[in-house]
Amino acid sequence: MGNFSHTAFKAMAATALALTCSMAFAQAKEVKLGYALPIASHYGAGANAWAETTEKESKGTLKFRQFPSSALGGERELVESLQLGTVEAAIVSSGPLSNFVPEVGAMDIPFLFRDSAHARHVLDGPIGQGLLDKFKGRGLIALAWGEQGFRHVTNNKRAVEKPEDLKGLKLRTMENPVHITAFRTFGASPTPMSWPEVTGALQQGTIDGQENPLSVIVSSKLYQVQKHLTLTGHVYSPVAILVSPAFWNGLTPEQQVAVRDGAKAAAAATRKYVEDLDKKAVDELKTNGMQVVVLSDKSPFQKALDPAYKQYASKYGKDLLDKIAAEK
Ligand code: PAF
Repeated sequence: MGNFSHTAFKAMAATALALTCSMAFAQAKEVKLGYALPIASHYGAGANAWAETTEKESKGTLKFRQFPSSALGGERELVESLQLGTVEAAIVSSGPLSNFVPEVGAMDIPFLFRDSAHARHVLDGPIGQGLLDKFKGRGLIALAWGEQGFRHVTNNKRAVEKPEDLKGLKLRTMENPVHITAFRTFGASPTPMSWPEVTGALQQGTIDGQENPLSVIVSSKLYQVQKHLTLTGHVYSPVAILVSPAFWNGLTPEQQVAVRDGAKAAAAATRKYVEDLDKKAVDELKTNGMQVVVLSDKSPFQKALDPAYKQYASKYGKDLLDKIAAEK
């Protein structure tokens, strides 16, 4: 009898525990979070920080499920899925964003920002926050600006040391009109392409090169398919931390705070990851066989873009560009 009641008690306790766990699981809302790069990247660092902060602050009522390495499609498709409400959250580059929120294109102008501190100051200040607000009118909720770092050119044809060396190079660009204009002005042959196709196209030689920050060149192992790297640092690459309005509007005010805090933690984590990686990436890439050109003077590249700047100023307004340049 004594044995029986002990066994019965253990069975009841186990059932009660399983029930509590399954109730907590049933209550947790799943947050599908998509991004283009592997977990071992600045995006992965951002995603982990977002999940950790939000799950904790929401007391387990929100549970993240990560889809790294473009598992939910290219960045443009990912943003469309947010608009449709089939994906809850995403970390994306500015690549496709100006096709959704045209004003964001101003942030893609080459040599606009002096350094990361300048870019962060502008993005975290009234200009950047004003841009985040504009996403609402386009069926998206933007919560914070993270970072990829400054973009550099890689290719398989030659060492790029001066702007003329870009002439005729078939370079993959993001599907981004501002970048396409810049590379056309350099005399390259810009080929806009969705990220999931890029490594294959480089392998097959249908394009000669591409441009991305060190954070991407390292995490996507582009040294396996690219020989030359020139540290052009031609444009700062911001990252938007986005959620779908359908998801956002279904949250309680407390959950919204938890998601927003998580997005801020994600943005900070991408910036920290890039900062740390930038210190050692060039050595790592050289060790992996890349030939690296360090430019002692980038001004010829900037000068070569003079005709493009006229177009940018008429599109985004000279006042805005001067205001950004004047930010300390
Ligand atoms: O080059 C791009 O498309 C982006 O920088 C990438 C690699 C998808 C990261 O957002």
